[in-house]
Amino acid sequence: MLAIRLIAEPDQLDAVALPLRPGGADDASAAPVPTAVALPAEVADEAAALASMIGLTGRAGEAHRQLRPGAAPARLLLVGIGDGDEPGWRSAGAALARAGKDETHITVALPVGVSAEAVRGLVEGLLLASYRYRLGADGEAPALTGVDLAVAEPEAYQQALEVARTTATMTRLARDLTNTPSSVKNPQWFADQIAAAATDLPGLRLRVREPEELAAEGFGGILAVGGGSASGPRLVELDWHPAEATTHVVLVGKGITFDTGGISIKPVPAMKLMRKDMAGAAAVVAATLGAAALQLPVRITTLAPLAENMVSGAAFRPGDIIRHYGGLTSETTNSDAEGRLVLADALAYAVAELKPDLLIDLATLTGANAIALGTRTGALYSDNDQLADDMLTAVAEAGEAAWRMPLPTDYVEHLGSELADLHSAPTQGGGSVLAALYLREFTGELREKWLHIDMSAPSWCERDDAELTRGATGWGVRGLLRWLATLR
Ligand code: BES
Ligand code: MN
Ligand code: ZN
Repeated sequence: MLAIRLIAEPDQLDAVALPLRPGGADDASAAPVPTAVALPAEVADEAAALASMIGLTGRAGEAHRQLRPGAAPARLLLVGIGDGDEPGWRSAGAALARAGKDETHITVALPVGVSAEAVRGLVEGLLLASYRYRLGADGEAPALTGVDLAVAEPEAYQQALEVARTTATMTRLARDLTNTPSSVKNPQWFADQIAAAATDLPGLRLRVREPEELAAEGFGGILAVGGGSASGPRLVELDWHPAEATTHVVLVGKGITFDTGGISIKPVPAMKLMRKDMAGAAAVVAATLGAAALQLPVRITTLAPLAENMVSGAAFRPGDIIRHYGGLTSETTNSDAEGRLVLADALAYAVAELKPDLLIDLATLTGANAIALGTRTGALYSDNDQLADDMLTAVAEAGEAAWRMPLPTDYVEHLGSELADLHSAPTQGGGSVLAALYLREFTGELREKWLHIDMSAPSWCERDDAELTRGATGWGVRGLLRWLATLR
């Protein structure tokens, strides 16, 4: 990961990044921003002239690398910051990571009086856009290893830097876990990764349940879904419990380490990316690790039901009746609707045993998420307006996107089954909405304290886009951490 430092006296001025905002002399072009560190007088004039010649507008995310043979600095990186707010600087950081990839070191000349939020945005943009997942040697790895942020008073921004670094580190961890091939990433491996990450952070308690314990306690959904795999299921329970906490949140994340669809097998194109079907579990675990690293004063218990949905002689069948934790039963007409079966166990367990104040789940639950909302936006469901608003605000401020969806009463009848309490995969109605309504049946007395996000669509992206890089996005880590930081 890039090493980022705050400094008052820059010692490396070979490659300097200079912010540009809209509104230069000829109005259409960009203007350089006065910076805390003193640069040679001609640099700002040159930047303004360049901006006008090249047609730079100063919009956030614009970047231009200028070589200056024989001059100091030898390279200028002109980066647009738009309004100079946190999202503007986040885009600028991402653009800088890409435009400066052939530099080994960059000093960013930050504006006089820059806000802490701007520094946070810049650092997250830099650290997230420079992420790469490669197995083995990486011939095209970027040269960039260090970025210095030149400001008048480094101490004023230290906290923002720490928060941004932790947020990015945990988002990158979620991306790593989600990008990992499923030949490596079976449930036990995933649990081992969580254990390894948790040992670096004091104050976390971890319990991993194996199939025998799951059977003894009645986790029928996790056992059914995991039953077809040679790598048995696990239930990870990770607890962050600071002494001063007054609120207890349970986070649940879908952890299907590969989803073939089971006996209701997926066609080739739909199965291709199903190693990402544990992105919800990766997000809630990474957010919890982040909360511990930042010592957030809120109690968090995170549940990650981990299973591989395979096709085999031991696989569960369409038509089987599953008995979930706590006793509710599901008729499983489609083994590809496996996520809700493992989540149902975890939600029921949280309600009965953990009795939290708030219950949140994240899941790559349905292809319908992308049909309803496109490729970048999670579908958020809750009967609690305040909780929904708070989460939407945190997600948006963090640079992610979610959209609130309804839980319509007229769909509820589709969940009925002649044989069991519930029908797990009704064929009528909107898929993402029905999945949410099904999950709600397991929230018991916490129905009004529950929030669910179907994040199938934004968990992955096909091409580099601002702070996102091709592949797993780590969606949810940033939004959850912002939201958790608002709780007491
Ligand atoms: N993991 C999939 C959902 C998914 C699809 C995630 C595409 C990311 C991209 C989930 O387990 C699934 O198969 N859902 C089915 C539900 C249906 C059988 C009711 C779906 O969306 O088709
Ligand atoms: Mn499935
Ligand atoms: Zn799935």
